[in-house]
Amino acid sequence: MTQLDDYLTELGRDLVALRDAGLLRRLRLPRGIDFVSNDYLGLADDPRLREAMREALRTTPVGSGGSRLLRGHHALFERLEERLADFCQAEAALLFATGYAANVGLLQTLVGRDDLVLSDERNHASLIDGIRLSGAHKVLYRHNDLGALEAALALPREGRAFVVTESVFSMDGDLAPLPDLVALAEGHEALVIVDEAHATGLYGSRGSGRVEELGLRARVLATVHTGGKALGSAGAWVAGPAALRDVLINRARPFVFSTAPLPALAAALEAALDVIAAEPARRSEVHRKAALLRGALHRSGLPAPGESPIIPVIVGGNTAALTLQERLEAVGFDVRAIRPPTVPPGTARLRVTTRYPVSDADLVRFAAEVGRILADCAA
Ligand SMILES: Cc1ncc(COP(=O)(O)O)c(C=O)c1O
Repeated sequence: MTQLDDYLTELGRDLVALRDAGLLRRLRLPRGIDFVSNDYLGLADDPRLREAMREALRTTPVGSGGSRLLRGHHALFERLEERLADFCQAEAALLFATGYAANVGLLQTLVGRDDLVLSDERNHASLIDGIRLSGAHKVLYRHNDLGALEAALALPREGRAFVVTESVFSMDGDLAPLPDLVALAEGHEALVIVDEAHATGLYGSRGSGRVEELGLRARVLATVHTGGKALGSAGAWVAGPAALRDVLINRARPFVFSTAPLPALAAALEAALDVIAAEPARRSEVHRKAALLRGALHRSGLPAPGESPIIPVIVGGNTAALTLQERLEAVGFDVRAIRPPTVPPGTARLRVTTRYPVSDADLVRFAAEVGRILADCAA
């Protein structure tokens, strides 16, 4: 057996182990009514975003041709970043290709080896990876538990302390207690970084997120916002002080060493900002629909925790979550089982998202089907 055969056999064994544990992932094409994507406002298919991209493509190259520090910078990015800063009421904003890149770049740049990072235990993988790359000492505090955070803030430290949290948790749909968290961090001279991936477009009178909604902008170091979720296209940006933007331009490795996004992305994001400004009712509708879906799931006997458009239907076992996914697909709904390591072991779930384009009737029908299938499986 060659080295290569040997290694491929080992990979094959790994896949079999994943399958046996109910943890094998396969790519599946979208099918059925969308109860899974992060396209909360229904902008991914909006004609205004399409048209903005088409128009940009008429006058700009398709590809950016290099990183922003080389020839990949473009007037469209400059204009967009000014608008993004204004949207977030921050001094400055810097666009990254993805939220993953933004989080990794931000944390790896700002946090030094001697610093202490206090990270909510349910933070997204991109935050975890950014903290890892920083080389700093990390303490995970119990999810949304301010007592645990306070205890961690009291730990001895050599450098600075950073508190890192999502504002709307991506797998649980609950909200970080931001005002108290920020006050606690201030009391312990710690800096706060907030990932607004699932809040951007959905919270605040301008729609930029929960930091804006709660009036906390001047008290946090940076926020991270994604363009691929409620804004309907792709990319992400960091919002914060101008000096922070300049440091990221110089030091954030995913920014410096990666090709800039397509210039036309900036046009799509600007069009999304226009829709968000012109149609605030879209986001209030999403919240109304989320309350309706939660109520309907409750009536089907499910706890449906959380407070945001993300509703976890926790079934526990990996195989049970897959079965529920398949049976819902058979009656026309697209939902996906979320399993460890994305969520803690024993908490496999459907992560159900509430979206503007889904009708009230479909929300009610979905909740009834979930209740019926789970009752059927329990019988
Ligand atoms: C909380 C959170 N942060 C960051 C990201 C990464 O964003 P992107 O998908 O743009 O890389 C995600 C995406 O799932 C997320 O849920």
